[in-house]
Amino acid sequence: MGSCGRQPAARLEMASEPEARLRKGAIFLEYKNLLVELDLPIAVVRLSRPKALNALNSELMGEVSQALAELEKNPEVGAVVLTGDERAFAAGADIKEMASAGAVEMLLRNQFVAWESVRSFPKPIIAAVSGYALGGGCELAMMCDMIIASETAQFGQPEINLGIIPGAGGTQRLTHAVGKVRAMEMILTGRPIKATEALEYGLVNRVVPVELYLEEAKRLAREIAGKAPVAVRLAKESVMRAYDGSLQQGLDFERKNFYLLFASEDKAEGMSAFIDKRKPAWKGK
Ligand code: CAA
Repeated sequence: MGSCGRQPAARLEMASEPEARLRKGAIFLEYKNLLVELDLPIAVVRLSRPKALNALNSELMGEVSQALAELEKNPEVGAVVLTGDERAFAAGADIKEMASAGAVEMLLRNQFVAWESVRSFPKPIIAAVSGYALGGGCELAMMCDMIIASETAQFGQPEINLGIIPGAGGTQRLTHAVGKVRAMEMILTGRPIKATEALEYGLVNRVVPVELYLEEAKRLAREIAGKAPVAVRLAKESVMRAYDGSLQQGLDFERKNFYLLFASEDKAEGMSAFIDKRKPAWKGK
């Protein structure tokens, strides 16, 4: 660690300026790993790293943060839909980016600072989920205000299979959403649940056929964007207050434990095993 006693700067990768295009009357902003469609009064933010199943690396999350900052400033945008593609909403934080990191490096990296932009976004934000929403992908969906799932969606916190735990709120938000015993089973086994189970557990608003999940999320976003903007903002804040109560303490506790696990041999083994496509051999160290 540096000896000058200054706080390390949060690592927030800034994207280069997005390229704007006009297609079928709608404006698209193209980032490197993200496509933003302005379909006023809503915007659709699409995660686009398909070769890595939209794994959430720092660059991608930096772009999400940048795009949301722009959408927050745009008074014509009343609500946002966050989506991936049919195969994956997101398969988690990028394991390859974290595989060689130790606990102190993870602490100083402060990679989740960009994720905060989703949690603190003041306008309604709806996750439209198809395919994998695993690890950080499930956590990102849960940071949104509502979730519309395609019937192919699967939600899970498989971090235990890497020798770590969820680090972006999974232990807290999943428990709030589905209750203790279900969250325990999901987090301790790492087994994902199907969309229908997610609906039964109260994790998602509804499940629709795969060809409709994005349309349904957009329809809901448009409906909300038609309401009084200030009332919508304060209604969202008020619901969050009911929900947030002790959440912050829980999130801080989870984050420290997440970083601590980056000091374990099992984390190194779990992540190497994923990358090498083999079964991990745990040492309990
Ligand atoms: N990070 C980095 N790369 C990933 C990734 C991730 N989370 N998930 C998938 N990929 C990559 C794969 O490595 C693979 O890349 P290559 O083609 O270069 O080998 C590519 O995406 C396609 O993946 P698979 O070949 O594995 O596809 P599959 O259909 O056989 O399996 C899957 C799909 C079950 C989702 C599998 O990819 C998987 O298990 N992914 C990891 C899920 C996971 O553990 N997520 C948690 C991450 S840790 C986390 O999120 C911490 C946190 O709380 C913030």
